[in-house]
Amino acid sequence: MKTISISAALLVAAPFALAQSPAWGQCGGEGWTGPTTCVSGYVCTYSNYWYSQCIPGTATSTQPTSTMTTSTGNPTSTSTGTVPTGSVGAGIGQNSQTSINAKFRSHGKLYYGSIIDPGTMSASGNTVKANFGAVTPENSMKFDAIEGTRGSYNFGGSDQVVNFAKQNNLIVRGHTFVWDQQTPSWVGSLSASDMTTVLKNHINAVMSRYKGQIYAYDVVNEHINEDGSVKSTLWTRKLGNDVFRIAFETARAADPNAKLYINDYNLDSNNAKVAGIVRLVNQLNGNGTRLVDGIGSQGHISGGQGSSAQSALTALAAANVGEVAVTELDIASAPSNDYVAVAKACLAVSKCVGITVWGVRDQDSWRTGTNPLLFDNSFKPKAAYNATLAAL
Ligand code: XIL
Repeated sequence: MKTISISAALLVAAPFALAQSPAWGQCGGEGWTGPTTCVSGYVCTYSNYWYSQCIPGTATSTQPTSTMTTSTGNPTSTSTGTVPTGSVGAGIGQNSQTSINAKFRSHGKLYYGSIIDPGTMSASGNTVKANFGAVTPENSMKFDAIEGTRGSYNFGGSDQVVNFAKQNNLIVRGHTFVWDQQTPSWVGSLSASDMTTVLKNHINAVMSRYKGQIYAYDVVNEHINEDGSVKSTLWTRKLGNDVFRIAFETARAADPNAKLYINDYNLDSNNAKVAGIVRLVNQLNGNGTRLVDGIGSQGHISGGQGSSAQSALTALAAANVGEVAVTELDIASAPSNDYVAVAKACLAVSKCVGITVWGVRDQDSWRTGTNPLLFDNSFKPKAAYNATLAAL
């Protein structure tokens, strides 16, 4: 009864005749009409719903594997609230269809977010819910906040942030593990082997607590010099570049679904530091297993620098990573042109998943006196907010 014409059969067969994507090339994603298989030695790997990429390997599944052992010892932990459970927020918040997050998402991006912490939650909470789709804990998930004393974990602040996010359907970006700042001095005094144990235990403690609930982590923060070389920090002085492998492997094993980032500042133009971070990431990912999923560009900039954002993000996205993000945006005096330029830069770079602004209202900004944020001290949207909204 059923017949199939020769031309229909050819149409069905046609996709198999297409060329294969090259090494590191795109091989899938929303609206993608090109090849969906890769040249030999590479496998098409899902990054997100709008981007798949050919990365080295032959396996049919690219679920990362790790030979790391898990933590040793029995650390204690404290929390003042309810331990968060469930899965990661969808990033849709409670915002209206005209919020900056909703409009950003309407272009296929994941979130336009901000920061929150227990200290700012009661004042800024409603503005965050109404306008943003993601939150990063400003300080409460840093090393010193969680583990001021070795083996004794305080999750009080970070639990509040994760619970707030879950109640309001917000994405969470975790921040941060390997950093030279806001890390207790006792960490720097440890032997290499003790430091390794402490780092693994710390990452395991945080990531197992929030497993499945945090979209991405800044596993490594601010470890590149302006000339592109690796920075001398309390971590690298003891462990050398191996600290990066240790941290990313531990993080991957602790929550295989979390996106693992390296994050830094002054990645705001296509400069030597951008080249350096791309080089380091490609080295770390160079053995066929992707350790680093994303590069975060903090974006603490001044007026005029927004115009370089697109070339910088494009250069970062050329690394062997699945995604990039602007993670800590604030712009001195908040010029509309620069905020609009950064938003448009992320829209123009397919791997860019989102933008996080580092603060809600000016008086809470860490850049005291520069008024770099999108809301004034009465939580009224400033010109840059309205201009960004209009541009999206
Ligand atoms: C800042 C916080 O905003 C301040 O409250 C804190 O005193 C210092 O740290 N790069 C980062 C962020 O990765 O964690 C920093 O946040 C800003 C610079």
